Amino acid sequence: MRSVVMFQAMLVVSTFFLLVLYSSLHKELVDAHKKVVYSPKARSPGPPERREVATRDNATSRHPPAVLNVSISAGFRSAFPENGAYWNRLLHSGFRRLDRGEDPLGAEAPWGLCRENNQEALETNVPDVATYPLFFRRFLQGMKCRSPPLLIDQPAKCEEARGANATFLLFAIKSRPGNFERRQAVRETWGREQLHGGRLSVRTVFLVGAASADDPDLGPLLAFEAGLYGDLLQADFHESLFNLTLKMNAFLRWTLHRCPRVSFVFSGDDDVMVNTPALLRYLESLLPPRAARLYAGQVIRTATPLRDPNSKYFIPMSFYDGPYPVYVGGGGFLVSGALLRPLYSACRAVPFFPIDDVYVGMCFAALRVSPEAHAGFHTFDIREKDRDNLCAYRSLILVHRRSPQQVKKIWRGLQSPLLTC
Ligand SMILES: *[C@@H]1O[C@H](CO)[C@@H](O)[C@H](O)[C@H]1NC(C)=O
Ligand SMILES: *[C@@H]1O[C@H](CO)[C@@H](O)[C@H](O)[C@H]1NC(C)=O
Repeated sequence: MRSVVMFQAMLVVSTFFLLVLYSSLHKELVDAHKKVVYSPKARSPGPPERREVATRDNATSRHPPAVLNVSISAGFRSAFPENGAYWNRLLHSGFRRLDRGEDPLGAEAPWGLCRENNQEALETNVPDVATYPLFFRRFLQGMKCRSPPLLIDQPAKCEEARGANATFLLFAIKSRPGNFERRQAVRETWGREQLHGGRLSVRTVFLVGAASADDPDLGPLLAFEAGLYGDLLQADFHESLFNLTLKMNAFLRWTLHRCPRVSFVFSGDDDVMVNTPALLRYLESLLPPRAARLYAGQVIRTATPLRDPNSKYFIPMSFYDGPYPVYVGGGGFLVSGALLRPLYSACRAVPFFPIDDVYVGMCFAALRVSPEAHAGFHTFDIREKDRDNLCAYRSLILVHRRSPQQVKKIWRGLQSPLLTC
């Protein structure tokens, strides 16, 4: 009995000593660390500005994005004449704010109010707005509404179950509320979440807007789907072609908030077929400087605004006067995680443009990041005679557009050990 008490006492005493020892050691380590950082001897390699930038980056990475000082390339500034076109005027007044050190967007009205009272302003600034098609007027009305609230979030999407490995590739797929079948095909095939080769963590989210009052209410089904698969994001805006830029911006915001350490983002449509193993091989093959500045896909160099009012992509002259930037097709493209924050900041200096892939091209042009052409991205499909040939899919990375059934069939074929090419 006595020896037990003695033993316990010794245990308490030795634990105490260990604690004291540990804390003094720890303090020494911390002090040593401080000395290294702040000692005047260590001054030469790191100018003070650099340290400041690093701290600010660290501080913002855990919060919704803040505007950084972004420098807009001179070439981009001069590409658009400051004339009567509404978008051009918005762009230049944003530049002036930026040059005064202000947020180029000015004060952003809250989501519920940003559309109000715009009608009069539009009539003043765009004299022929009454002749615009309805969808274009809708777009104009909401041009300054950039941050729709999320209805369904996936806060833990990029947190790994164990360990501290960051997500390597995030599939950010543009979908529509009713496209259940397409999403399911993606989940079962190329977009399946997994640790590829035991190392590369792949995650998938589908971003959908909200149904309008005329649509059947899919809310309960979407909530069920989100709970079942954990890969659905929904933001509160009306799903439409000219709201895709809004969707892109909402997604960028979400990624900066929820997946700040992701290495690469693949943004694409829900009706594409992606050869994920080939995509991962390509990403892994990139040397660090290229991996940090990647904006790659099928490069479109010769597009110009369509001035035919009957076109789906009609852009009125009194709205936009300028060329299209060189950009990559929105059916599927890649962006480095390291570029997401600069991209988001640059986009704040570029007024919304109704065509989302052109818009992303503009923001990258403002940053002076040139798109990189990759021959494996076929956003306009491959030759007709190759479409049933599985071997044609082996080396490519993306094909647009495939039905859910075709996606499953091609994917299964590509995985088959019997395939000889
Ligand atoms: C994290 O990555 C390392 C190497 O990249 C790998 O060995 C390890 O298994 C990964 N851990 C988890 C939990 O994924
Ligand atoms: C975009 O979404 C907003 C919010 O739901 C809506 O008011 C607007 O009309 C939509 N714009 C287009 C072009 O459909």
